[in-house]
Amino acid sequence: MRGRSVLPIFILFQVCVGQEKKFHFPDKIQAVLGSCVEIPCYTTAPPTEGRSNKVVWHVQPAMSRSRIIYSTDVSEISTVFRGRADLVKRTTENCTLRIHDVRRQDLKSYFPRESKISILRPASVYVNLEVKDSPPVPVLSMPAEMRVGETITITCMANFTCASSPPTFTWNLIGPSVTERSDLGNGIWQTASNLTYKPTENENGSVVRCTVTHFGGPTISATAMINIKINIKENVILACGKRKQRPLVNYTSRKMHYLKIVRDIQIY
Ligand SMILES: *[C@@H]1O[C@H](CO)[C@@H](O)[C@H](O)[C@H]1NC(C)=O
Ligand SMILES: *[C@@H]1O[C@H](CO)[C@@H](O)[C@H](O)[C@H]1NC(C)=O
Ligand SMILES: *[C@@H]1O[C@H](CO)[C@@H](O)[C@H](O)[C@H]1NC(C)=O
Ligand SMILES: *[C@@H]1O[C@H](CO)[C@@H](O)[C@H](O)[C@H]1NC(C)=O
Ligand SMILES: *[C@@H]1O[C@H](CO)[C@@H](O)[C@H](O)[C@H]1NC(C)=O
Repeated sequence: MRGRSVLPIFILFQVCVGQEKKFHFPDKIQAVLGSCVEIPCYTTAPPTEGRSNKVVWHVQPAMSRSRIIYSTDVSEISTVFRGRADLVKRTTENCTLRIHDVRRQDLKSYFPRESKISILRPASVYVNLEVKDSPPVPVLSMPAEMRVGETITITCMANFTCASSPPTFTWNLIGPSVTERSDLGNGIWQTASNLTYKPTENENGSVVRCTVTHFGGPTISATAMINIKINIKENVILACGKRKQRPLVNYTSRKMHYLKIVRDIQIY
Protein backbone atom coordinates (compact mmCIF):
# COMPACT_ATOMS: atom_id res chain seq x y z
CA MET A 1 0.00 0.00 0.00
CA ARG A 2 2.67 2.45 1.06
CA GLY A 3 4.92 1.65 -1.86
CA ARG A 4 2.13 2.55 -4.26
CA SER A 5 1.58 6.00 -2.82
CA VAL A 6 5.30 6.77 -2.80
CA LEU A 7 5.86 5.94 -6.45
CA PRO A 8 4.13 8.94 -8.08
CA ILE A 9 6.01 11.31 -5.76
CA PHE A 10 9.28 9.77 -6.81
CA ILE A 11 8.51 10.28 -10.47
CA LEU A 12 7.47 13.88 -9.85
CA PHE A 13 10.72 14.54 -8.00
CA GLN A 14 12.76 13.23 -10.92
CA VAL A 15 10.93 15.47 -13.34
CA CYS A 16 11.53 18.51 -11.15
CA VAL A 17 15.28 18.12 -10.78
CA GLY A 18 15.94 16.06 -13.87
CA GLN A 19 17.06 19.05 -15.88
CA GLU A 20 20.08 19.90 -13.80
CA LYS A 21 22.81 18.14 -11.99
CA LYS A 22 22.98 19.09 -8.30
CA PHE A 23 26.15 20.37 -6.69
CA HIS A 24 26.82 19.97 -2.98
CA PHE A 25 29.41 22.16 -1.26
CA PRO A 26 29.79 24.09 2.02
CA ASP A 27 28.54 27.68 2.34
CA LYS A 28 31.82 28.97 3.74
CA ILE A 29 35.45 27.99 4.10
CA GLN A 30 38.58 29.65 5.46
CA ALA A 31 41.87 29.80 3.63
CA VAL A 32 45.32 30.94 4.73
CA LEU A 33 47.14 33.54 2.68
CA GLY A 34 49.89 31.86 0.62
CA SER A 35 48.64 28.34 1.27
CA CYS A 36 46.08 26.28 -0.61
CA VAL A 37 42.42 25.58 0.00
CA GLU A 38 40.14 22.78 -1.13
CA ILE A 39 36.43 23.40 -1.38
CA PRO A 40 34.80 19.97 -1.09
CA CYS A 41 32.14 19.38 -3.71
CA TYR A 42 30.25 16.46 -5.13
CA THR A 43 27.47 16.15 -7.64
CA THR A 44 24.33 14.12 -7.82
CA ALA A 45 22.34 13.55 -10.95
CA PRO A 46 19.16 11.57 -11.37
CA PRO A 47 20.00 8.04 -12.57
CA THR A 48 18.25 8.63 -15.88
CA GLU A 49 20.32 11.69 -16.61
CA GLY A 50 23.32 11.32 -18.83
CA ARG A 51 26.26 12.47 -16.74
CA SER A 52 28.08 15.49 -18.02
CA ASN A 53 31.70 15.55 -16.98
CA LYS A 54 31.93 19.29 -17.27
CA VAL A 55 32.37 21.51 -14.22
CA VAL A 56 32.66 25.28 -14.28
CA TRP A 57 33.46 27.15 -11.07
CA HIS A 58 32.23 30.73 -11.27
CA VAL A 59 33.35 33.72 -9.24
CA GLN A 60 30.87 36.14 -7.76
CA PRO A 61 30.96 39.10 -7.84
CA ALA A 62 33.34 39.43 -10.72
CA MET A 63 34.09 41.42 -13.82
CA SER A 64 33.49 39.46 -16.97
CA ARG A 65 37.22 38.96 -17.49
CA SER A 66 37.71 37.33 -14.06
CA ARG A 67 34.54 35.32 -13.86
CA ILE A 68 35.65 31.71 -14.32
CA ILE A 69 38.22 30.32 -11.87
CA TYR A 70 38.02 26.77 -13.18
CA SER A 71 36.51 24.96 -16.11
CA THR A 72 37.15 21.55 -17.60
CA ASP A 73 37.32 23.56 -20.82
CA VAL A 74 40.58 25.41 -20.11
CA SER A 75 39.84 28.11 -22.70
CA GLU A 76 36.97 29.34 -20.51
CA ILE A 77 39.19 30.01 -17.48
CA SER A 78 39.85 33.71 -16.91
CA THR A 79 43.52 34.49 -17.47
CA VAL A 80 43.84 35.97 -13.95
CA PHE A 81 43.13 32.52 -12.51
CA ARG A 82 44.86 30.29 -15.02
CA GLY A 83 47.04 27.69 -13.34
CA ARG A 84 45.82 28.62 -9.85
CA ALA A 85 42.79 26.40 -9.51
CA ASP A 86 42.17 22.79 -10.34
CA LEU A 87 39.88 19.89 -9.57
CA VAL A 88 41.35 17.58 -6.95
CA LYS A 89 39.85 14.46 -8.47
CA ARG A 90 38.64 14.06 -12.00
CA THR A 91 35.58 11.92 -11.55
CA THR A 92 32.09 12.81 -12.69
CA GLU A 93 30.83 12.99 -9.10
CA ASN A 94 33.70 14.90 -7.55
CA CYS A 95 33.92 18.64 -8.18
CA THR A 96 36.25 19.51 -5.26
CA LEU A 97 38.08 22.72 -6.18
CA ARG A 98 41.65 23.37 -5.10
CA ILE A 99 43.02 26.91 -5.19
CA HIS A 100 46.80 27.27 -4.93
CA ASP A 101 48.77 30.21 -3.55
CA VAL A 102 45.74 31.88 -1.96
CA ARG A 103 45.73 35.66 -2.36
CA ARG A 104 43.89 38.38 -0.52
CA GLN A 105 41.74 39.09 -3.57
CA ASP A 106 40.45 35.49 -3.54
CA LEU A 107 38.09 36.62 -0.77
CA LYS A 108 34.99 36.14 -2.90
CA SER A 109 32.13 33.75 -3.45
CA TYR A 110 32.30 30.78 -5.77
CA PHE A 111 29.76 28.38 -7.23
CA PRO A 112 29.93 25.43 -9.61
CA ARG A 113 27.74 24.74 -12.64
CA GLU A 114 27.69 22.23 -15.44
CA SER A 115 28.48 24.97 -17.92
CA LYS A 116 29.41 28.61 -18.11
CA ILE A 117 26.41 30.74 -17.24
CA SER A 118 25.51 34.32 -18.01
CA ILE A 119 26.90 37.02 -15.73
CA LEU A 120 23.33 38.29 -15.52
CA ARG A 121 22.30 35.17 -13.62
CA PRO A 122 23.80 35.54 -10.16
CA ALA A 123 23.77 32.37 -8.09
CA SER A 124 21.78 32.24 -4.88
CA VAL A 125 23.84 29.37 -3.46
CA TYR A 126 27.59 29.77 -3.24
CA VAL A 127 30.61 29.25 -0.99
CA ASN A 128 32.18 32.27 0.71
CA LEU A 129 35.95 32.06 0.82
CA GLU A 130 37.50 33.85 3.77
CA VAL A 131 41.21 34.63 3.56
CA LYS A 132 43.17 34.70 6.82
CA ASP A 133 46.53 36.48 7.05
CA SER A 134 48.00 33.70 9.18
CA PRO A 135 47.09 30.12 10.07
CA PRO A 136 45.04 29.38 13.18
CA VAL A 137 47.12 29.12 16.36
CA PRO A 138 47.72 25.43 17.12
CA VAL A 139 46.46 24.00 20.37
CA LEU A 140 49.30 22.57 22.46
CA SER A 141 48.39 20.31 25.33
CA MET A 142 50.33 18.29 27.83
CA PRO A 143 49.97 17.17 31.42
CA ALA A 144 49.89 20.17 33.76
CA GLU A 145 52.42 18.40 35.95
CA MET A 146 55.10 15.92 35.02
CA ARG A 147 57.40 13.79 37.08
CA VAL A 148 60.98 12.96 36.34
CA GLY A 149 61.28 9.54 34.76
CA GLU A 150 57.69 9.48 33.55
CA THR A 151 56.85 9.36 29.88
CA ILE A 152 54.35 11.96 28.75
CA THR A 153 52.48 12.71 25.55
CA ILE A 154 52.49 16.27 24.27
CA THR A 155 49.83 16.95 21.65
CA CYS A 156 49.81 19.73 19.09
CA MET A 157 46.60 20.18 17.11
CA ALA A 158 45.87 22.37 14.14
CA ASN A 159 43.03 22.82 11.70
CA PHE A 160 43.53 23.19 7.99
CA THR A 161 41.37 23.42 4.88
CA CYS A 162 43.60 22.01 2.15
CA ALA A 163 42.75 18.31 2.53
CA SER A 164 45.36 16.78 0.21
CA SER A 165 48.24 18.89 1.56
CA PRO A 166 48.21 18.66 5.36
CA PRO A 167 50.53 20.87 7.41
CA THR A 168 53.72 19.47 8.93
CA PHE A 169 54.78 19.63 12.57
CA THR A 170 58.18 20.55 13.99
CA TRP A 171 59.03 20.20 17.67
CA ASN A 172 61.90 21.83 19.57
CA LEU A 173 62.12 18.61 21.61
CA ILE A 174 63.43 15.35 20.27
CA GLY A 175 61.27 12.30 20.66
CA PRO A 176 59.14 9.89 18.67
CA SER A 177 55.97 11.41 17.29
CA VAL A 178 52.86 10.21 15.49
CA THR A 179 50.60 12.31 13.33
CA GLU A 180 46.94 11.74 12.74
CA ARG A 181 44.20 13.62 10.94
CA SER A 182 40.46 13.69 10.98
CA ASP A 183 37.73 15.16 8.83
CA LEU A 184 35.65 17.72 10.73
CA GLY A 185 33.34 18.21 7.74
CA ASN A 186 32.69 21.17 5.43
CA GLY A 187 36.28 21.12 4.21
CA ILE A 188 37.79 21.53 7.69
CA TRP A 189 40.38 18.98 8.75
CA GLN A 190 42.16 18.58 12.03
CA THR A 191 45.64 17.20 12.32
CA ALA A 192 47.54 16.37 15.50
CA SER A 193 51.08 15.37 16.32
CA ASN A 194 51.68 13.39 19.51
CA LEU A 195 55.19 13.63 20.84
CA THR A 196 56.33 11.10 23.40
CA TYR A 197 58.76 12.62 25.85
CA LYS A 198 60.55 11.82 29.08
CA PRO A 199 61.54 15.09 30.75
CA THR A 200 64.63 15.38 32.90
CA GLU A 201 64.71 17.46 36.06
CA ASN A 202 66.94 20.20 34.70
CA GLU A 203 64.42 20.86 31.92
CA ASN A 204 62.01 22.28 34.45
CA GLY A 205 60.71 25.65 33.26
CA SER A 206 61.97 25.16 29.73
CA VAL A 207 59.79 25.83 26.75
CA VAL A 208 58.06 23.31 24.52
CA ARG A 209 57.46 24.66 21.07
CA CYS A 210 55.38 23.12 18.32
CA THR A 211 55.58 24.72 14.90
CA VAL A 212 52.97 24.05 12.26
CA THR A 213 53.93 24.70 8.65
CA HIS A 214 51.05 24.86 6.23
CA PHE A 215 51.43 23.95 2.58
CA GLY A 216 53.04 26.82 0.71
CA GLY A 217 54.95 28.09 3.72
CA PRO A 218 52.67 29.86 6.25
CA THR A 219 53.97 28.95 9.68
CA ILE A 220 52.69 29.35 13.22
CA SER A 221 53.89 28.16 16.63
CA ALA A 222 52.48 27.47 20.05
CA THR A 223 54.50 27.20 23.24
CA ALA A 224 54.06 25.77 26.69
CA MET A 225 56.26 25.34 29.76
CA ILE A 226 57.55 22.14 31.23
CA ASN A 227 56.47 21.91 34.85
CA ILE A 228 58.05 19.11 36.78
CA LYS A 229 56.57 18.13 40.09
CA ILE A 230 58.89 16.89 42.72
CA ASN A 231 57.91 13.40 43.81
CA ILE A 232 58.63 11.55 47.01
CA LYS A 233 61.40 9.35 45.73
CA GLU A 234 63.24 12.26 44.24
CA ASN A 235 63.20 14.17 47.49
CA VAL A 236 64.34 11.35 49.64
CA ILE A 237 67.48 11.35 47.55
CA LEU A 238 67.77 15.10 47.85
CA ALA A 239 67.26 15.02 51.58
CA CYS A 240 70.09 12.57 51.94
CA GLY A 241 72.40 15.35 50.94
CA LYS A 242 73.17 14.30 47.43
CA ARG A 243 72.89 17.90 46.31
CA LYS A 244 72.97 21.07 48.27
CA GLN A 245 70.53 24.00 48.16
CA ARG A 246 67.77 21.72 47.02
CA PRO A 247 64.19 21.83 48.17
CA LEU A 248 63.46 19.67 51.16
CA VAL A 249 60.29 17.74 51.52
CA ASN A 250 57.94 18.54 54.32
CA TYR A 251 56.10 15.35 54.96
CA THR A 252 52.60 16.46 55.90
CA SER A 253 50.40 13.57 54.96
CA ARG A 254 50.94 9.98 53.94
CA LYS A 255 48.11 10.12 51.47
CA MET A 256 49.51 13.08 49.59
CA HIS A 257 51.26 12.25 46.42
CA TYR A 258 53.19 15.43 46.28
CA LEU A 259 54.64 17.02 49.33
CA LYS A 260 55.03 20.54 50.47
CA ILE A 261 58.43 21.88 49.69
CA VAL A 262 60.53 23.89 52.03
CA ARG A 263 63.11 25.83 50.13
CA ASP A 264 66.47 27.21 51.19
CA ILE A 265 67.16 24.73 53.91
CA GLN A 266 70.73 23.66 54.13
CA ILE A 267 71.06 19.94 53.65
CA TYR A 268 73.96 18.03 55.07
C1 LIG B 1 36.62 14.00 -3.86
O1 LIG B 1 38.01 13.76 -4.02
C2 LIG B 1 38.80 14.06 -2.88
C3 LIG B 1 40.26 13.86 -3.26
O2 LIG B 1 40.52 12.56 -3.68
C4 LIG B 1 38.36 13.17 -1.73
O3 LIG B 1 39.10 13.49 -0.58
C5 LIG B 1 36.88 13.39 -1.46
O4 LIG B 1 36.46 12.51 -0.45
C6 LIG B 1 36.07 13.17 -2.72
N1 LIG B 1 34.69 13.53 -2.45
C7 LIG B 1 33.68 12.70 -2.66
C8 LIG B 1 32.34 13.22 -2.30
O5 LIG B 1 33.85 11.60 -3.15
C1 LIG C 1 39.06 23.18 14.58
O1 LIG C 1 37.80 23.59 14.09
C2 LIG C 1 36.73 23.17 14.91
C3 LIG C 1 35.44 23.49 14.21
O2 LIG C 1 35.49 24.74 13.60
C4 LIG C 1 36.88 23.84 16.27
O3 LIG C 1 35.82 23.44 17.10
C5 LIG C 1 38.20 23.42 16.88
O4 LIG C 1 38.39 24.10 18.09
C6 LIG C 1 39.34 23.74 15.95
N1 LIG C 1 40.56 23.13 16.47
C7 LIG C 1 41.74 23.77 16.52
C8 LIG C 1 42.88 22.96 17.01
O5 LIG C 1 41.89 24.93 16.16
C1 LIG D 1 47.30 11.50 20.66
O1 LIG D 1 47.07 11.96 21.98
C2 LIG D 1 45.70 12.15 22.28
C3 LIG D 1 45.62 12.77 23.68
O2 LIG D 1 46.53 12.16 24.55
C4 LIG D 1 44.97 10.83 22.17
O3 LIG D 1 43.61 11.01 22.43
C5 LIG D 1 45.16 10.27 20.77
O4 LIG D 1 44.56 9.00 20.66
C6 LIG D 1 46.62 10.16 20.44
N1 LIG D 1 46.77 9.75 19.04
C7 LIG D 1 47.70 8.91 18.64
C8 LIG D 1 47.72 8.58 17.18
O5 LIG D 1 48.53 8.42 19.40
C1 LIG E 1 59.78 23.26 38.58
O1 LIG E 1 59.42 24.61 38.52
C2 LIG E 1 58.21 24.89 39.19
C3 LIG E 1 57.86 26.35 38.96
O2 LIG E 1 58.97 27.16 38.97
C4 LIG E 1 58.38 24.55 40.68
O3 LIG E 1 57.14 24.77 41.34
C5 LIG E 1 58.78 23.09 40.81
O4 LIG E 1 59.03 22.78 42.13
C6 LIG E 1 60.01 22.82 39.99
N1 LIG E 1 60.33 21.39 40.02
C7 LIG E 1 61.55 20.92 40.31
C8 LIG E 1 61.70 19.44 40.18
O5 LIG E 1 62.47 21.63 40.62
C1 LIG F 1 55.63 21.20 57.70
O1 LIG F 1 54.25 21.42 57.46
C2 LIG F 1 53.48 21.51 58.62
C3 LIG F 1 52.03 21.61 58.21
O2 LIG F 1 51.85 22.45 57.11
C4 LIG F 1 53.96 22.72 59.43
O3 LIG F 1 53.23 22.81 60.62
C5 LIG F 1 55.43 22.60 59.73
O4 LIG F 1 55.89 23.75 60.37
C6 LIG F 1 56.20 22.37 58.45
N1 LIG F 1 57.59 22.11 58.74
C7 LIG F 1 58.60 22.86 58.24
C8 LIG F 1 59.93 22.37 58.56
O5 LIG F 1 58.39 23.83 57.54
